[in-house]
Amino acid sequence: MTYLLALDQGTSSSRSIVFDGEGRIVALAQQELPQSYPRPGWVEHDPQAIWAGQLATAREALSRAGITARELRAIGITNQRETTLLWDRATGEPIHPAIVWQDRRGEPLCASLRAQGQEAMIRARTGLLIDSYFSATKIAWLLENVPGARARAERGELAFGTVDSWLLWQLTGGAVHATDVSNASRSMLFDVHRNAWDDELLALLRVPPALMPRVLPSSAHFGETRPELLGAAVPIGGIAGDQQAALFGQACFGPGMAKNTYGTGCFMLLHTGAQFQPSSNGLLTTSAAQVDGRPQFAMEGSVFVGGAVVQWLRDGLKAIPGSAQVQALAESVPDTGGVMLVPAFTGLGAPYWQPDARGTLTGLTRGTTLAHIARAALESIAFQSAALLQAMGRDAVAQGGQPVAELRVDGGASVNDLLMQFQADLLGIPVVRPAVTETTALGAAYLAGLSCGVWSGTDELAVMWRPGRRFEPAMDRAQANARMAAWERAVRQATAA
Ligand code: G3P
Repeated sequence: MTYLLALDQGTSSSRSIVFDGEGRIVALAQQELPQSYPRPGWVEHDPQAIWAGQLATAREALSRAGITARELRAIGITNQRETTLLWDRATGEPIHPAIVWQDRRGEPLCASLRAQGQEAMIRARTGLLIDSYFSATKIAWLLENVPGARARAERGELAFGTVDSWLLWQLTGGAVHATDVSNASRSMLFDVHRNAWDDELLALLRVPPALMPRVLPSSAHFGETRPELLGAAVPIGGIAGDQQAALFGQACFGPGMAKNTYGTGCFMLLHTGAQFQPSSNGLLTTSAAQVDGRPQFAMEGSVFVGGAVVQWLRDGLKAIPGSAQVQALAESVPDTGGVMLVPAFTGLGAPYWQPDARGTLTGLTRGTTLAHIARAALESIAFQSAALLQAMGRDAVAQGGQPVAELRVDGGASVNDLLMQFQADLLGIPVVRPAVTETTALGAAYLAGLSCGVWSGTDELAVMWRPGRRFEPAMDRAQANARMAAWERAVRQATAA
């Protein structure tokens, strides 16, 4: 039997999944990761908790699968992206807690970069907008604020890494300091055209080049685990940031293929092949997972409040006892009765970019019930995702790319059939939920398996990848367009609020 182990280190949990040679799940283990919010707008993780939790779940997954590490062909790593760590190369000790991607402390530096007029240059080199979401200003903050950090960094004593690099360093006992292109592309320091750190950006942010990890394709021999950790030395054959790993795990390998992950927020990625496509709609351009070192790109957009709107129904409105009950409540009415919910609780992201927008509930009548609001809440996830995909489609087609023919979906809320059907209805294209919805981990396993010869190439993976359920659009286009127009009207109200 062929086995691969995927380590999926996410924002809220560490998971490890053993897959077989057909890409089926054999065993899974999971542990929550504690969050720390030391000040408003700050979010940190304990680097040692990340490592300890990941190692514990890896051991547990192997034991649940009833196999030893000797039976593994390779390990793949996928991770929460942008989260930033600096550690001492000699001792392996982190010099500070990890600064998580949601953390906003880099914002003053971003404002100064914008004021210097650096936006266009940064966008052209990295594909990114200037934002504290990315690693660059988090590194700069650490160098400025941790006593002695800058001098140590300049002497080459410190290492920077995102969570993938940190796990790789730990797994190899400090022998390998590397990352992959998809993670590097989220740093705002990486030239995605040349697949190399950008000297000018490093100088602009005052980041010593000695800090930076080596960058490899996403499918590559990164190193081997120290034998004492899992019981054998196992090759580490793949690394990708979680959203790019999910795109790969959905077998979206070429231009025009798109996936949407319905988590707390939604992350949508559209593969654009070898073409770097800047967006006119505020989307990001990012490196897709790369198998052979040749640049591959994706456009990316996110919905800030996706599944989180269901949490709000549960915890804020107390409309449902648990998230699983939302579909039944929403289905207890035939439609929303004209109610529209725009869950702009933290502003609106792409394609609207309205940070000051606030949540808005419109169309209430004397007959409105919680069921109508629950249905409107579910629909809001689909409306936001549809607006994002339409914007991506416009960008792609304007630049000679392919229109999107189907949307592949994963993540917690993708189990909701009502939501998926409505998504297909709005988009007018099929929505496809795969047989294995753990696509992030599957993507990491695919990348690892490719580098060690388990599979011959992406063609073989595309054949092996299996759809689970396909939702065909059933609403007529005039009605779907009218619904989208009503959504856009509600968005205008939310942004006027
Ligand atoms: O860019 C942030 C993203 O990678 C986080 O994903 O699933 O860990 O919340 P997740």
